[in-house]
Amino acid sequence: MALDRIRIEGSKRLSGEIPISGAKNAALPLLAATLLTAKPCRLRNLPSVKDVDTMAEVLRVLGVRVNFGDGVFEAQAASLTNDEAPYDYVRKMRASVLLLGPLLGRFGHARVSMPGGCAIGVRPINLHLKAFEALGAEVHLAEGYVEAKAKRLRGVDFLFDSVTVTGTVNAMMAAAFAEGKTTLRNCAREPEIAAVADALRQMGVRVNGDGSETIHIEGRKELGGFDVTMIPDRIETGTYLVAGAITYGDLFLRGARASDLPAVLDKLRETGAEISYDSSGIRVRGRKPIQPTDIATAPHPGFPTDMQAQFVTLLSLAKGVSVVTETIFENRFMHVAELTRMGANLKIQGSSVTIAGVEKLTGASLMATDLRASASLVLAGLAAEGTTELLRIYHLDRGYENMDHKLRAVGANIQRVHETGK
Ligand code: EPZ
Repeated sequence: MALDRIRIEGSKRLSGEIPISGAKNAALPLLAATLLTAKPCRLRNLPSVKDVDTMAEVLRVLGVRVNFGDGVFEAQAASLTNDEAPYDYVRKMRASVLLLGPLLGRFGHARVSMPGGCAIGVRPINLHLKAFEALGAEVHLAEGYVEAKAKRLRGVDFLFDSVTVTGTVNAMMAAAFAEGKTTLRNCAREPEIAAVADALRQMGVRVNGDGSETIHIEGRKELGGFDVTMIPDRIETGTYLVAGAITYGDLFLRGARASDLPAVLDKLRETGAEISYDSSGIRVRGRKPIQPTDIATAPHPGFPTDMQAQFVTLLSLAKGVSVVTETIFENRFMHVAELTRMGANLKIQGSSVTIAGVEKLTGASLMATDLRASASLVLAGLAAEGTTELLRIYHLDRGYENMDHKLRAVGANIQRVHETGK
């Protein structure tokens, strides 16, 4: 419910086990990849989050036969009734841009509404379109829609001007149908890229180099289906690791994969938290006092921009001064104003925020804005003295599965209040 809010009584030490869900940012491209084939595809361990529901709905609108039973999502794009992703869906989720690559590759035509900007920035897709044109497509923009068409895509040696996660995925999916070999350079290296490459390999596409900055793809005329299990969500993992650290608690995140977030684990250790892990998950023990440290976000395997807000919250309570620099998005400090209202001492200078640690945060009524800023405010509420109310938590529901349940299970005093729309 859009009007739901979350209420937290803070300063409770968290302890226990949290199960980590499937990765939202692997699920979205893999759902789009079901368009690449007329064969059935199976996706397991999908997280039940709003963005995944939206993407499944878009597939349905395009004519993909989808059904969901005992944790397995089945999709079959045997024949589409529509090759246009309407604005009404795209405006809710910019990841709809991931439909362009498969539709263009398989059908030679795609029409997707330009994703509007969102809270964290303009979010252009010029690099996606440049890759499609390099593969031989004609691209033009009209009435707020992107239209791409090509008789036959041809393999190319293409260099991305800058690193783009969904741009890399879109180019991979279009190149899966391009005649001959494609080399993509300056690619994103996030674990989600390898997840998409694994599915493409199951579909019969020769892909290698995924996870490095250069990916090689040999296209085919027709692709088979795939059956994949989502990798664990590394940003959900990072978020709950911070929850354990900031409440000086002791949490075990079952199913978390330490190799997916090396920079986050390093930075957590620098702040004094104790981290240990094995193949079953990651354990975090918070230690007083929290130590200050400096962070600059970077493409994977650097420190993820999606963990920046959560660390600003953690460092707000450090014993000393920290500087956090956001290098990926132009406006990803929405959480700063709200944290300041809780007593944090933060100063934005350009793309950096200087954090002078304070003794404590006090609960307040807060407004969520984008997904990860909202998560950082929940973390602040968990650590703060007193009551915190967070409004507009539909932002949270886009990317966190059952966050209040998971936190309550480890001792947080957190309630979801259903607003009757009064
Ligand atoms: C993906 O978004 C993630 N979303 C984002 O996670 C994440 O923050 C981002 O990568 C960076 O890691 C999904 O995977 C669904 P980009 P994406 O293209 O692909 C600029 C979350 O919280 N750019 O890597 O859209 C862009 O403006 C979300 O789960 C261009 O200029 O991000 C940004 O400054 C938020 N032109 C930078 O590159 C383009 O054509 C990185 O963007 C494309 C991107």
